[in-house]
Amino acid sequence: MSPPSRRQVLGWGLAGGAMTAAGAAGLLWGTGPRGGPGGGSGGTGGGDWGEPEVLTSAGGVLDLDLEAAPAAVGIDGRTAHVWAFNGTVPGPTLELSPGDTLRVRMTNGLGAPTNLHVHGLHVSPAGAGDNPFVTIEPGGTHDYEFVLPPDHPPGTYWYHPHHHGTVAEQLAAGLYGAIVVREAAPPPVSRERVLVVSDLALTAAGELAEPSVMERMMGREGSLVLVNGRRRPRLAAAPGERERWRIINACPSRFLRLGLDGQSVRLLARDLGRLHQPVEAGTVELAPGNRVDLLVEAAEGTSTLVASPVDRGAMPGMMGGRRPGGTGPVDLLTLEVTGGRAPALADVPAGPEPQDLRGVEVARRRTLDFAMGGMGGAMMRGDGSMMSFTVNGREFDAGRTDVDPAFGDVEEWTLVNSSPMDHPVHLHVWPMQVVSGGGGDDGAGDEPRWADVVTVPALGRVTVRVAFEGIAGRTVLHCHILDHEDLGMMATVEVR
Ligand code: C2O
Ligand code: CU
Repeated sequence: MSPPSRRQVLGWGLAGGAMTAAGAAGLLWGTGPRGGPGGGSGGTGGGDWGEPEVLTSAGGVLDLDLEAAPAAVGIDGRTAHVWAFNGTVPGPTLELSPGDTLRVRMTNGLGAPTNLHVHGLHVSPAGAGDNPFVTIEPGGTHDYEFVLPPDHPPGTYWYHPHHHGTVAEQLAAGLYGAIVVREAAPPPVSRERVLVVSDLALTAAGELAEPSVMERMMGREGSLVLVNGRRRPRLAAAPGERERWRIINACPSRFLRLGLDGQSVRLLARDLGRLHQPVEAGTVELAPGNRVDLLVEAAEGTSTLVASPVDRGAMPGMMGGRRPGGTGPVDLLTLEVTGGRAPALADVPAGPEPQDLRGVEVARRRTLDFAMGGMGGAMMRGDGSMMSFTVNGREFDAGRTDVDPAFGDVEEWTLVNSSPMDHPVHLHVWPMQVVSGGGGDDGAGDEPRWADVVTVPALGRVTVRVAFEGIAGRTVLHCHILDHEDLGMMATVEVR
């Protein structure tokens, strides 16, 4: 290995010292009460709209260098010391088309191992592909190559590190970015925006705050909720314009229940699944990892995109009602619609008929039980937690194969949650069709519901079907409350 550059040395130093115990809540750089001034020493938000740099494939290839490293970024008029891809939060947006090859030379400028996952893409998990078992040591690089099949579903996807044990920490520090897979004939819109929603926990000095053991077990939620790394940005549109918002929930644990009062909003797509017809949406809910594409028909006035709190359950055996997600509503952005009326756009044509696995022969049925246990004795375990996070009673072991579907089969899985806290379950590579239970009515009626993160409610169950087609290989499924994943709630899947 070549000697580290000055930047890397500096990077390690910063990374080593970057985690600071926040101590009392008053030391946190907060989002502050809704509509009011910033909490603690935070600013008031309301800056201009902005999106990360967009890198677009050409001639069927997108080739880029991506470095995960400590960075100082401006948030809300102040300096925050975070970890970032190529120095920005979020990292660059990667724009691809079906059939493209994405090559990423990833460099690890952090003080700890990392790697890269392309969340939701239907690409090979083998070798240099979307391989969650890769480790990139500090100072090291890895050449990824992701080959999208020609029939890859267009949609909104994203990337983030996936090194078991530090996934939540690295996302919470600022490491994520959007991936857009273009459609050949997109619906007519006035403009498109990418909204990467994330949360950060920072000390008053702008350093990354370290979560408590309890926060990790519940799933950490940062109090500073951002859109494209900005606090409560303002965006402008003219009456009659139609915008397409590609929204990504990049928070490690926070669920987002989104509403935009005063505007007509339709749901166009969920995760990979474009709905056949867009449907009116009052509120939409995104678990960590989920995406939605919304169509907003701009109506005169000022509207706020609000994330309402979501009750995602409680810790087993906890007294005093210690529950995550109880921080009250958060204003994510302000939309100001003024000016002359824009000419009317053509209607949005129907999308392709989604595949439907409900009528097909199932080769195999499995039950996967997501559980939290071991609180009784309150014994501190070696990793500082007091509880085990398991799938079918076992903590993650990269060397063991837990689920072994045969290539080409359709399987039906019953996802059981035997804990009192919601678990959003993510399967890499192959999308899931929800066939019963799970998630409220999104207005799409009997349409097939496709997702790559499916929330299994506390003490509930959801049945999904998965077609193990197109791609074989070895990868993972896990809870996308990334602290739960890091604490063991992940299993291997090998398709042969
Ligand atoms: Cu977005 Cu396995 O993760
Ligand atoms: Cu979980």
